[in-house]
Amino acid sequence: MVSESDIKHQVREFYDHIGWQEASNGFYQNASYEDLRPVAHDYIHNCHLRVMRHLNPTGHLLLDAGSGPIQYPEYLVYSKGYQHRVCADISIVALQEARKRIGHHGLFIVCDVANLPFKSNTFDGMVSLHTIHHLPPDEHIRAYQELYRTLASSGKGVIVNGWDNPPLTIFMNFWIGLVERLYVLFLAQPKVVDRGKESSPADNQTTSRSTYVRKHNAAWLHKEVGSLMPVKIWCWRSLSVRFLRTFIHERFAGRWLLKILYWKEERFPHFLGKYGQYPLIALSKYK
Ligand SMILES: C[S@@+](CC[C@H](N)C(=O)[O-])C[C@H]1O[C@@H](n2cnc3c(N)ncnc32)[C@H](O)[C@@H]1O
Repeated sequence: MVSESDIKHQVREFYDHIGWQEASNGFYQNASYEDLRPVAHDYIHNCHLRVMRHLNPTGHLLLDAGSGPIQYPEYLVYSKGYQHRVCADISIVALQEARKRIGHHGLFIVCDVANLPFKSNTFDGMVSLHTIHHLPPDEHIRAYQELYRTLASSGKGVIVNGWDNPPLTIFMNFWIGLVERLYVLFLAQPKVVDRGKESSPADNQTTSRSTYVRKHNAAWLHKEVGSLMPVKIWCWRSLSVRFLRTFIHERFAGRWLLKILYWKEERFPHFLGKYGQYPLIALSKYK
């Protein structure tokens, strides 16, 4: 049995030595989980900016819990109207890289999201993107509580983590599997598909290119976290990177398909947030 401190140690080692090392073209290894193709650029960009709608635009301190190196340009926008961005991460490499990006605008603290070393009611804004799923399962609720505790009474925060096998992904995986089988039958060897952020390695299992991940579903969030604090689910992105890489291509009207997808997500944000791949969980202490 792997202990909680072993899991955190593995995760930190992974990000220090692999995840936040440059892999190619100036991108970190972690960016291999994202769809960085030009065809998906506008869609991914607009999805990143959805976070802004649920934050106070200005304030004193914005907490970025599990900041990593603040790897995408859109992330910089979240703290533009704030005096300081407090980057909290267990990976020292993440924070060294983040400091290169934001310099004096940042305060950099090596710490654990489930045990934040900050007073209650401190932050006017908070983001925590793709981080809580790396914690040992017993500490997920505590991490939500810590993020909520440290949020100011007028503060607003956003948490993004993929769901564990949501219905839309299960449905789409059927079609992806079909396309992959046809590809093998008629064309060539199967392409290596990087399942990236949406993959769910078995608990406690890691490979040299991934680390510990444990995800939940919307029912879990409502029951375990919704009973402790008000949470509202919106859509961050409804389809997996694996889906985008399989079905979205420049020569098959990919840009237009993504415009339609974005429009659908805007029309049905709660439904697609709950049943699609990536919810945006909005937190605030006031109604
Ligand atoms: C997938 S990366 C996401 C980074 C960034 N938020 C983004 O979206 O690009 C996860 C980050 O969470 C950090 N992390 C993992 N477990 C943590 C913990 N218990 N406390 C603080 N940070 C943690 C990792 O070191 C890593 O930088």
